[in-house]
Amino acid sequence: MAQITTSTENTIQTLERIGSHSHVKGLGLDERLEPRQNAQGMVGQKSARKAAGVIVKMVQEGKIAGRAILMAGPPSTGKTAIAMGMAQTLGSDVPFTMLSASEVFSLEMSKTEALTQAFRRSIGVRIREEAEVVEGEVVEIQIDRSLTGATKTGKLTVKTTDMETIYELGNKMIDSLQKEKVTAGDVIAIDKASGRITKLGRSFTRARDYDAMGSDTKFVQCPEGELQRRKDVVHTVSLHEIDVINSRTQGFLALFAGDTGEIKPELRDQINTKVGEWREEGKADIVPGVLFIDEVHMLDIECFSFLNRALESELAPLVIMASNRGITRIRGTRFRSPHGLPIDLLDRVLIVSTKPYEQEDIKEILQIRAQEEEVTLKPEALEVLTRMGAETSLRYAINLITTASLAAKRRKADAVEVADVRRVYNLFVDEKRSVQYLREHAEQFMSETDDFGGKEVDGLAPGAPVVGISHTSILA
Ligand SMILES: Nc1ncnc2c1ncn2[C@@H]1O[C@H](COP(=O)(O)OP(=O)(O)O)[C@@H](O)[C@H]1O
Ligand SMILES: [Mg+2]
Repeated sequence: MAQITTSTENTIQTLERIGSHSHVKGLGLDERLEPRQNAQGMVGQKSARKAAGVIVKMVQEGKIAGRAILMAGPPSTGKTAIAMGMAQTLGSDVPFTMLSASEVFSLEMSKTEALTQAFRRSIGVRIREEAEVVEGEVVEIQIDRSLTGATKTGKLTVKTTDMETIYELGNKMIDSLQKEKVTAGDVIAIDKASGRITKLGRSFTRARDYDAMGSDTKFVQCPEGELQRRKDVVHTVSLHEIDVINSRTQGFLALFAGDTGEIKPELRDQINTKVGEWREEGKADIVPGVLFIDEVHMLDIECFSFLNRALESELAPLVIMASNRGITRIRGTRFRSPHGLPIDLLDRVLIVSTKPYEQEDIKEILQIRAQEEEVTLKPEALEVLTRMGAETSLRYAINLITTASLAAKRRKADAVEVADVRRVYNLFVDEKRSVQYLREHAEQFMSETDDFGGKEVDGLAPGAPVVGISHTSILA
């Protein structure tokens, strides 16, 4: 392969917007990585947060690629929230990929392909290029359409404080000017190789148009000196993006569609070689990111052995897994093991454990969530919700905030009162009461066994062997 393309388009950020963690803005640590009780949307769970902070630090220093972390703890103890906090702290330059283990089985590709893609999404390649750009303030855009409208020609006048030049425009440039809504007075940069146009802002000389432009307009100085200049540009793309852009059947449009299909191993080999060359030539750096696999006990033994091997490859990210299982069956086997992870994988992970919250923490988290959802809770209502959270689960109590505020709105009240909480508490049962109901009405439901409320959903024949950490291999 002579030429490997890395996206010249804006790199695509896969931004996760999970409503239930939208209040999490970071890990809430101080400069010494000590957790604050309540900061950046994070409350309590201090030792896990501190551990997460240390891990982030190591990732940023590029020290921890190819390692694995397991966040272990009961449901609703903030495992996913802490992972989101880590992603925020890492910043946009370090790839962070989030995968729910069961997604591996639902994509239209093999399990190992899905995992390989997730791995490669989590490795960034920071590429340095020297680009030739034209940077200046637009003086005038003149576009002539042919009678049919099919072809367009035009002229673009751009200036710096020292010079002014007129450029002839082709169809493609006209389209991108129109797409970016460039008008006279904008300061723009045109990448000469790709023709990509970036709007840098409005020229200060046009500041009097301010009222017409709206308050989000950014004003910049008209550039000085030459119009054409060489500029060092750095952009980070993931290995996966490079794979997709270079796979002939896909093309970069597939990145937008999200429908990437399987990628040939030979192509990946070529890209690895090329990236290796760039590194040697000093054109690129590898930025190992983070792959977060939530509910990791849903992976099966084939996935686990793939993970084990992939972690040893040179281009491996940091893998963080989360599980709320205790001793449970490893999917695809008859064996039980801690957290449902095979022993050889367990052996290489560092375990961070999360613990159930105290009432005080629950109260603070509920307060933050109420603020986030713009719900006013009367102090007594917050007390009641807090107690419910302690007795049932934090997540259940969080869910009641939304529903209780709907109940309050129906009464045309501004604030949620105890009565609203009570009402929705009776409308929506929590897990404990649901199990209780199932027990009492067992004969009316279809079920596999008559054992309800257990921690294991996928059932296990009684007497199946339990494997402890002391065993060397589960496959023995
Ligand atoms: N320490 C915390 N600070 C702030 N919010 C939290 C904290 N722990 C959990 N939450 C919130 O509580 C809810 C349940 O936590 P989650 O992280 O989903 O639990 P888990 O993944 O351990 O089951 C989420 O909305 C989460 O954002
Ligand atoms: Mg979770």
